[in-house]
Amino acid sequence: MCGIVGAVAQRPVTEILLEGLRRLEYRGYDSAGLAVIDEQGQLVRSRALGRVASLQERLHKEPIEGHIGIAHTRWATHGVPAEHNAHPHFSNDRVGLVHNGIVENHAELRAELKTQGYVFTSETDTEVVAHLLSRALENGDDLMQAMLNVRSQLIGAYSFAVIAHDDPETLIVARQGSPLVIGLGLGENFVGSDIQALLPVTSRFIYLENGDVARVKRYGIEIFDVNNRPIERPVKQSNVNSFASDLGEYRHFMLKEIFEQPSAIAATLEGRIAANGINWGTIKGQQVQERLAQVESIQIIACGTSFHSGLVGRYWIEALTDIPCQIEVASEYRYRRQPPRKNQLVITISQSGETADTLAALEKIKQEGSCLASLTICNVPESSLTRESDWSLMTVAGPEIGVASTKAFTTQLVALQLLVGLLIQAKGGDISKVEQLSNGLRQLPLLIEQALNLNDAIETLAERFLEKQHALFLGRGEMYPIALEGALKLKEISYIHAEAYPAGELKHGPLALVDSEMPIITVAPNTALLEKLKSNLEEVRSRGGELYVFADKEAHIQPFSNLHVLEMPHVPELLTPIVYTIPLQLLSYHVAVLKGTDVDKPRNLAKSVTVE
Ligand code: F6R
Repeated sequence: MCGIVGAVAQRPVTEILLEGLRRLEYRGYDSAGLAVIDEQGQLVRSRALGRVASLQERLHKEPIEGHIGIAHTRWATHGVPAEHNAHPHFSNDRVGLVHNGIVENHAELRAELKTQGYVFTSETDTEVVAHLLSRALENGDDLMQAMLNVRSQLIGAYSFAVIAHDDPETLIVARQGSPLVIGLGLGENFVGSDIQALLPVTSRFIYLENGDVARVKRYGIEIFDVNNRPIERPVKQSNVNSFASDLGEYRHFMLKEIFEQPSAIAATLEGRIAANGINWGTIKGQQVQERLAQVESIQIIACGTSFHSGLVGRYWIEALTDIPCQIEVASEYRYRRQPPRKNQLVITISQSGETADTLAALEKIKQEGSCLASLTICNVPESSLTRESDWSLMTVAGPEIGVASTKAFTTQLVALQLLVGLLIQAKGGDISKVEQLSNGLRQLPLLIEQALNLNDAIETLAERFLEKQHALFLGRGEMYPIALEGALKLKEISYIHAEAYPAGELKHGPLALVDSEMPIITVAPNTALLEKLKSNLEEVRSRGGELYVFADKEAHIQPFSNLHVLEMPHVPELLTPIVYTIPLQLLSYHVAVLKGTDVDKPRNLAKSVTVE
């Protein structure tokens, strides 16, 4: 059955629309199409018979892009499956429309419109509606009035999404019989036939009722009921984001949780990014803004995977603010003396909020009276760490059942970026950096979805690790902690001994381990350090090491006999640690499955380490 997707955003929407269509494929369809208003203000479209993949191929060859658009998968009712019958349908290059359902009185309307000179290029009932809208606009209606006016002329069951050259900021939708939801984003909004289509970009939805017509803009939604009266419809949080603790279609919780990351991240961002920056309410506690303004140094304390997110956080804090930042594992910090630091913010990071070492380190700091404020980044509300800390910044990953932390880690990284934004704001710093962070974070769920598409390729790759006893992980800059996290994941669930090094350290010792038996896994985003990393890879390759590189598609790393390249989507630099975590999680998962270990409950490990 037909599927509708629409988007109005600051960012380009073509990929969002395509992803929405892919998620609606399960409904069945014979053709697909997409239209946007481009930079020149023109209504442009691309349509293809067959799969969404064919449309994607066409868009690859002849790209179209814009900040507002509509898309459709068609299941033919009126007119054969053919490109000219595929939606969106246009009228005079002025109105673009996608439609689900049937307009029963289309024949009379078609005849009438033909006598008025409207030219039809398809056999569909839908094109009639496009021309009716165009006629109403010519008669002086705005797009909303046009829709209300046209609706009164239609008989049948339908849902529509409309864009128009005359009003390039507005998406108009109408529902009569066929379902339609509005997805609420952060300075962007979406529409879809169901929430599945929109889950990568939002988890908050308004379900339209029969007879509703809505005006959807980036910063506002207006809904009119069947009597054309303005009406409020409740906003619902998606159940899918309740992360019910059952396996669903997945074989293990770890895999389920890896795949939940786009929605966990969207949930962690929800309500936290506003048009003018990061919301202060992101951090719960007293005098957040005033005291963040006074911070002169930061100390991060955590264990295991949470420690790795803190390591990445240090790179971001020191790159984007002038605040020096230290980090230490809690079990070390708690037993050594630290000289007092002026106006120190102490940050604990923990999935469970119950880790004994982290709690003890916080206790020590509080007893010493050596901090301006303590903040915990934590996934469990009402946990010990949230109760013991002055402030909390909650990740909204939902319960994590697999012992190996996955979605908790990536949402911690998201929380750290929000914190960096707040620090910049509190210090009166360069607000364009906050905008850069916000814009990046908005794209993140979709980029994670794209990285998850590597799942099948990684499953095949995992076979090469089956007989291995050891593995090395390499990364540079903020990708070094990601290499550490990749190595930790591999060792904890597959029991393969794995170590991570900053790639530049290789020649200072670990290179001695490299031979044709040693797999070396590297993350290579297209950042300033890429060329340095390539030289390090050359050092390994020339010594016969077997290299597996997850590389940006623009990194131009050529595969070779002992150099295997897995192409990653292009990712803005600030997001690389988050997105490149995904393939490493998938690799350890598939290796562990092949080795037959207890993936969700690896030997000797516990989810919440409440003892020292
Ligand atoms: C590894 C893992 C552990 C935890 C560590 C800290 O996958 O989950 O390394 O990260 O035990 O736990 P939390 O984050 O609950 O403090």
